[in-house]
Amino acid sequence: MRPVARFVLFAGFLACLAAPLAHAIEKQPAAVYHARRAALGGKLLGGVAVLFAAEEPLLDFMPYRQDEDFYYLTGWDEPGAALLVVGDSSASAINSTMYPEAGHKYEEILFLPTRNFRMEKYTGAKMDASTPSVAQRTGVDEVRPMTDLPKMLNDLIAADRRVAGRIWTQAGNATATGLMQLAATELGTASLPAPHDLADLTTELRVVKDPGEIALLQKASDSSMAAQRVMMRAVRPGVTEATVAGQMYAAWLEYGCERDSYAPIVGSGINSTTLHYAANSRVMQDGDIVVVDAACEYSMYAADITRTVPVSGHFTPRQREIYDVVLGAQKAAIDSFVAGKSKIGDRYLTDPDSLDLASYNYINTHGKSLDGKPLGKYWIHPVGHMVGIDVHDPSIYPAVLKPGMVFTIEPGVYIPEEKIGVRIECTFLVGADGKLIDLTADLPHTADEVEAFMKGK
Ligand code: GLY
Ligand code: MN
Repeated sequence: MRPVARFVLFAGFLACLAAPLAHAIEKQPAAVYHARRAALGGKLLGGVAVLFAAEEPLLDFMPYRQDEDFYYLTGWDEPGAALLVVGDSSASAINSTMYPEAGHKYEEILFLPTRNFRMEKYTGAKMDASTPSVAQRTGVDEVRPMTDLPKMLNDLIAADRRVAGRIWTQAGNATATGLMQLAATELGTASLPAPHDLADLTTELRVVKDPGEIALLQKASDSSMAAQRVMMRAVRPGVTEATVAGQMYAAWLEYGCERDSYAPIVGSGINSTTLHYAANSRVMQDGDIVVVDAACEYSMYAADITRTVPVSGHFTPRQREIYDVVLGAQKAAIDSFVAGKSKIGDRYLTDPDSLDLASYNYINTHGKSLDGKPLGKYWIHPVGHMVGIDVHDPSIYPAVLKPGMVFTIEPGVYIPEEKIGVRIECTFLVGADGKLIDLTADLPHTADEVEAFMKGK
């Protein structure tokens, strides 16, 4: 064996030794997740948050994806875990002279399930609470067996019954509901107060991205742009929409993404006018326009990009006219942007500070339908949404856009009677200075840029 080959084998062996429990995805430093949990603890009014990891997918072909809040708070990407965060009661009204014994400090505990050595033949080795240095390896202050969770919750409520009214958990989560029922039974009561929705608290935390998250979002956009470039070279008459989607999948994996961030939309001809067309089953024809809304997820962070291109490589005059109106609508939103004032998600188009209204007004005053009417009647979806661990990251809309927020500006015009749908979607970060940064800046934007790129220029 040549020395280089021997070295590669040895290095591979070392990597296997070092990383039987390692994760392929890029994590942020443990201190970042710890700070997020502490921030959550500060919102609990001396109560508790309890949340569960996503379960294994039901169907074999479905890949595992962690629950978004669980991942945000832990960086843990395995099924079967639970997290308990106990808020410091000394900082809240819950502690009183009537109940001095109720005082408790901030605590965070990761609960891990009992290992199943037979299943580990399929899944690989897992950690449990007895794994050496488990707290250090998971980055959580304390790690306990899952069997301790019901008792810990019971003890916290027994020490101060008011804690029962200050529990936050995932709405609609069957395991959380079961835990609450078990706690009620253990405490000798028919039921406990309905828990609060944890998403009310995590939405506030997740909406502003930290520098590590922004770096991951940029990587997701970079890989997605690479795939969009592959798409622009793959589109031509006679090719199926699915072939284009497949080539984008290959590029996403090649450029380090783990999966698509939503079902890819490759809609040609009439399909360009269906917002979330996902069958991708048509053969593209000369003269069609094709909306390609497709992007990937890098280390759990989503990109969201749409480009609309002509199947022949040249827009018809009418397609170009509509394209320019949509591009103008995106520019109108960008030009009107003021950090701390502008909003997205103004469904009723009534708010003068909304980017929706800026975009809509442009569309409604430029170009005409075949029957000579303004194009505003073809405005059928909001101008944008937040992007993060979810492609549609949680937010309350209308949302005021502030530094650290990442969102899309994606106006569209969809005219079924002309088989022309155009959507142009870029993802933006509000920079620390309040200026917009286009995470998709390197991709062709204008009709000329799209045509030139398709020609191989
Ligand atoms: N890109 C898909 C959507 O925003 O709905
Ligand atoms: Mn979008």
